[in-house]
Parts: sequence; structure tokens; C-alpha cells
Amino acid sequence: MKLPDEIAAKIKRPRGTRDLMNEDLRYFDFILGKAKERFEQSGFHKIETPLFEHVEVFDRSIGKETDVVSKEMYDFFDKGENHVSLRPESTAGVCRAYLENKMYAGTLPVELWYAGPHFRYDRPQKGRYRQFYQLGAEVIGESNPAIDAQVILLCRNILKDIGLLDSVTLQINTIGSREGREAYCQKLTEYYAGKDRSMCDNCLRRRETNPLRLLDCKNEDCVILADMAPKMIDSLSQEDKDFYKEVKEFLDALGVEYVENPKLVRGLDYYAHTVFEFWNGSEGAQNSLGGGGRYDYLIEQFGGQATPAIGFAFGLDRLVNEMEDQDIEVPTGETTDVFVAGLGQEAKKQSLVLIDKMHDVGIHCVGAMGKPAMNHQLKLADSLKVQYALILGELEVNEGVVLVRDMKKGAQEKIPQEEIVEFMLKKLGNE
Ligand code: HAM
Repeated sequence: MKLPDEIAAKIKRPRGTRDLMNEDLRYFDFILGKAKERFEQSGFHKIETPLFEHVEVFDRSIGKETDVVSKEMYDFFDKGENHVSLRPESTAGVCRAYLENKMYAGTLPVELWYAGPHFRYDRPQKGRYRQFYQLGAEVIGESNPAIDAQVILLCRNILKDIGLLDSVTLQINTIGSREGREAYCQKLTEYYAGKDRSMCDNCLRRRETNPLRLLDCKNEDCVILADMAPKMIDSLSQEDKDFYKEVKEFLDALGVEYVENPKLVRGLDYYAHTVFEFWNGSEGAQNSLGGGGRYDYLIEQFGGQATPAIGFAFGLDRLVNEMEDQDIEVPTGETTDVFVAGLGQEAKKQSLVLIDKMHDVGIHCVGAMGKPAMNHQLKLADSLKVQYALILGELEVNEGVVLVRDMKKGAQEKIPQEEIVEFMLKKLGNE
């Protein structure tokens, strides 16, 4: 059937989205499984927040001037005229949930983890999607450099479990408390004053709206300017410096290697003190496999009491890409052990019953109900690499037996129908 062009153009994935299946999903599930083990052994609980929130949740936390909010949000007015947005990240939603569900009334810190789709209207390319998947965690309600180190260690352990420890570097920095940061932004603005001719348009805008991000620009001239800019650490209070020093001491004690990167500022406004990212060896904006940091003022910005917090998120898609690039294998999925081939109407009926009985005892078993010829069915059994084919033709139906064929050896034996499930359990169990 030929569809009109304008409809055919819409019966496609939207740009920047993917149909995840087979290999990719195997990697996804492997990573999620490993991460879940790590979260659970550290006492984290899972949280699922909505895929969309009121726009204010993101405006007030991530920051109106950030790229994520100003350019990349999938926001819209729903049928009730509520201005909502698909979540571009989850920290904001988790903090909203923390307050709304009065988690502060329980034992602190609250330790939560999450995984799922997130949405940013970004320019799609490898490692950058409009629907992408994050795996992250938040520790809300306590401030201590040991917690920062523990959270970073958790990230590192997940990377270790999926075989990526050697291909990433941990970049860390501190952006200090609110006061230190304000003083530093003032210095940066002064430093960049009068340098318009060496700055890209983006940086000219950032100088007015978000000076910290000036350090983050990838433009060649801007990188040179940023390298010579005043250093954040010189604007920070002794208390801020001590906090950072202690984080590093804990990391040293844990044997966690890191690179101090004074230009690391992160793309979201809510951070304070420790920030970190995990980079792979590649150049460019997609080299961050994950990142996070402390966000001690976010809950307050939502109207709660001052509540220190820290968290991180990995980009699952990027972890999968990296594992594939590094030729890291993951275990293959479940295999099918038994194929039931039936010939004739009565045999098909009995096959269906047999498959159901096999499933009840946990045997991985399939049949080809639509394929008429026995040789077609056996070909399919071959391609599925099953160990046994159970054959039910007219003769077998009349005799009340099943032919069990060992697909590797080619040997066959006749087993009474009422004994077949028990027989197969033993056979598969022995192997
Ligand atoms: P983020 O750095 O914006 O941090 O995102 C975390 C990770 O998500 C990135 O390092 C990257 O791997 C992945 N990611 C981001 N955008 C895309 C995209 N368009 N396509 C593919 N992957 C992407 C956050 O989102 C913070 N909420 C992390 C955090 C948690 N901070 C404190 N708690």
C-alpha cells in the first residue's frame, strides 16, 4: 500500500531517537544489572519520577540560562493549559519528590537511584540523542567530604564492573559555596571585559548570563582565554578549600585516581562545591560518559529547608557505545533449549499443550505454529540452535508418543507423552 508522502514521512522514528533491540538492549540490561547490584549493596532505594514535570521544576533548578533549559527542553502546554516538559534530567524531579513526599521527615541521608529515558532537543549524532537513557543516584540530606568520595567510588565501581575503568578518567573540581562562586563570577566578568574580539557569540552571551560556563567553551580562541582566566580556587573561602582538600584525601585513601580540572564547571546551574565527570579518551562534547556533583542549594530553591545533597548520572547510551568501542563482550541472552515441531491439526493442538507444560516447569521451549512442512520446522529448530526437537506427527499422535531428537547427535528416541516433561527435565538437568 502506498501512503501519501506527508504521512509516510511521519511513520518513522523522530530524529535523535532509536529503536533499541537485540545487541544494544543486551548491553543496556547488563549495565543496569551491574549498577543495581552496586546500588543495592550500598543501601540505595529505587525511585521512579514522572517522565514530565511542570516547567518550573527545571527552570528553578537547572537554571533558565543553561542550554538545557533555554534550548533543549521538550516543553509544551497540555490540554489543561499546564506548561510541562519532558524531563531533561532527573535530579530536579527527585528533589521535587523528596519535598513532596516529605522524605526529610525520615532517616537522612535519603539515598535514591533511578534509570530511564530523558529528553533533550539537542543536535543528534553518535552519543547524543534526543531521547537518551540515564542511570543515576542522589544522596540527599547530609554534607560531608566522605560522602562525596563514596558517591564517586560508587560510580567508579559501576565502571569497573562493566569493564570501563581503564578507558575513562575521572575529572574533578570544586566550584565552592554560593558566596565563593559569586565572587569568582565577578572576577571572570572583569577578566573577560574588553575581550569581545577573541570571544565566540556563545561566550559573549554567557559573559552576561552565566559567566562560569565561559570556562567550558570548546572554541579554540575561547579555550586559550579560559586557560589564562583567574582560577576558581583563588576566590574560594578557606572552608571551601578545606572541603575540597578532604574530598581528595578520601579519594586518595580509597585509591581512586583523578585528574584535577580547574575548568570543569558542568552544564547545570545547581552545583556547588565538588563537581566531577568521567571522560573517555575522545575529544569533543560527547566524551563525558557521566557526571555529577554537590547541589547544596537546590532543595532550598524549591522552598525547602537548606539541605545538602550530591548525585551523579551516567549516560547509558554512551556507556554502551564505549563498551562496544572497547570490544567488551556481555553474556548472551537466554537460549532456547527445546523446539516442538507438530504436523497436522491434532499434533498442533497437542504441541501447544506440550509447550505450555514445558514453560510451567521452566524449560525454554518454542514451536512454529505457522510453518506447515516438517523440514521447514526442523530448519527453524536448527537456526535457533536448540538442543532437542520434539516431533509430533500423525503417527506419534496415534501412538501417544513424542519423538525426541538430539539435534547435535541426530539420535532419536520415542517417549510416551505423559512422561515427556519429566524426561526433558532430567535430560536438560543432566546437561
Ligand atoms: P549531565 O551531565 O547533564 O548531568 O548528564 C549526565 C550524562 O547524561 C552525561 O554525562 C551524558 O553521558 C548523558 N547525556 C546527556 N545528554 C545526552 C544526550 N543528549 N544524549 C546522550 N547522552 C546524554 C545530569 O543530568 C545531572 N542530573 C547529573 C547529576 C545527578 N548531578 C547530580 N545528580
